[in-house]
Amino acid sequence: MPKFTDYKIADLSLASQGRGEIELAEKEMPGLMCLRSIHEEKPLKGERIVGCLHLTTQTAVLVETLISLGADVRWASCNIFSTHDPAAAALVDKGIPVYAWKGESLKDYWLNIYKTFQFKLGPTLIIDDGGDATLMSHLGLDYETSMSESNSFDFPNVDKELKDLLGSIYKDNPKFWRGIFLTLKGVSEETTTGVHRLSQMEKEKKLMIPAYDVNSSATKSKFDNLYGCRESLADGIKRATNTMIAGKVVHISGYGDVGKGCAQSMRALGACVYISEVDPICALQALMEGYTVLPIEDVVDKADIFVTATGCKDVITYSHMELMKDSAIVCNIGHFDDEIDMATLNKNKVSVKTIKPQVDVYTIQYEDSTHDIVVLASGRLVNLGCANGHPSFVMSMSFTNQVLAQLELSKISLTHRLSPKVYKLNRLQDEQAALLHLKNKSAKLTTLTPEQADYLNVSVSGPFKTDFYRY
Ligand code: NAD
Ligand code: ADE
Repeated sequence: MPKFTDYKIADLSLASQGRGEIELAEKEMPGLMCLRSIHEEKPLKGERIVGCLHLTTQTAVLVETLISLGADVRWASCNIFSTHDPAAAALVDKGIPVYAWKGESLKDYWLNIYKTFQFKLGPTLIIDDGGDATLMSHLGLDYETSMSESNSFDFPNVDKELKDLLGSIYKDNPKFWRGIFLTLKGVSEETTTGVHRLSQMEKEKKLMIPAYDVNSSATKSKFDNLYGCRESLADGIKRATNTMIAGKVVHISGYGDVGKGCAQSMRALGACVYISEVDPICALQALMEGYTVLPIEDVVDKADIFVTATGCKDVITYSHMELMKDSAIVCNIGHFDDEIDMATLNKNKVSVKTIKPQVDVYTIQYEDSTHDIVVLASGRLVNLGCANGHPSFVMSMSFTNQVLAQLELSKISLTHRLSPKVYKLNRLQDEQAALLHLKNKSAKLTTLTPEQADYLNVSVSGPFKTDFYRY
């Protein structure tokens, strides 16, 4: 048998550690393990899945679940710092094509995503986190079409590395992306920012395939974004800096699901927490929880730790950094790295010292003196850049929704098409995802009597809430 060479990872010798960690994680991922056992008939047989989602131990359990359901899978990470190298090695050791390692360059990042599209028969489905695989395929198609029609293309504001790669793919095969869209049936998207991108594409009539918004399931965003970040933010800050949170002033930008989890975590460890918000409803929620709500400008010289959690851009500017206390810690937990103005910091710094990977101390000058700013994960998501992301149990909830979305998309065929819009899983599927995670917990559900169910106008077996209920 020819040697398996269809991969690029950091170090295959980490496979046994990775396998041990995957086996530990499986015990904490009841949703995924249950989906493996209830779908023995291989419902994903014939599906060829492009995966572009942080390659962690938890994701490895997702990958092996998809395979156990019959799919062929190729995987890359959706962030240059988030791959857990032992998990990547364990998958490759089983013959699964993985293109990901911690600390990839941006050029390799895009190349790795491109590699995941390279199924001999073409991919049928995408699992995306943040929308970069969706972006690459759609932009690739636009580029090809425009080049073949007018030999020119106006690139939107995207990474130079992606532009260069699309140019060289076109040179090699000017019909590569057209070929991809002949087999591609749909995408399921993991995160808030990726769903924003999809909705924008749908609005502009640029979305070419149906997309499942996994983030909107209550069992995803109301758990992963909230309770996941409640655990993994502190993990990231502490592994990076060892700093004591108690007694510190922490400023959090954004009080959505992620911001709420971050704020709870920092307060529980004894920090004094300030929140910035643009949305009056979220600002009021923060106030009701007892946080002080102020624009960053009002506390920029008081906080010891800054966390961005908005999915927005330019939230911490260089002017803010000029006014920060010496040795303030600055990090981001939102999907992309444009929440903190790293470009100006890199341009204007006096010096930068790397303490260890993903921990950089910048010295900057303000008026007559200099001070330090400790930047984590170069402004990329701190919980995955400086730690290993959320714990397995909460990721099992998110990934159960991913598998349910992939099962929905797999029902699409050339004769049963679905229009290219953004879809959500239904409430019953959401409740089923929750049920799978209640098993073996010290919880027992109350059952409605038929009369009570009738009175509430619901079924005894659910769904118990409408699609519009806000948890
Ligand atoms: P969300 O929409 O629920 O919350 C974001 C909040 O930020 C909103 O309330 C919004 O009003 C506020 N906001 C926007 N711009 C702002 C600004 N300039 N200043 C202050 N507040 C502002 O989104 P979410 O689900 O909380 O996700 C936030 C980000 O985190 C997204 O990028 C998402 O993709 C990402 N995310 C990361 C992880 C992780 O593990 N690191 C997990 C889940 C989501
Ligand atoms: N996002 C946040 N934590 C994660 C994890 N452990 N695995 C994959 N994606 C994540």
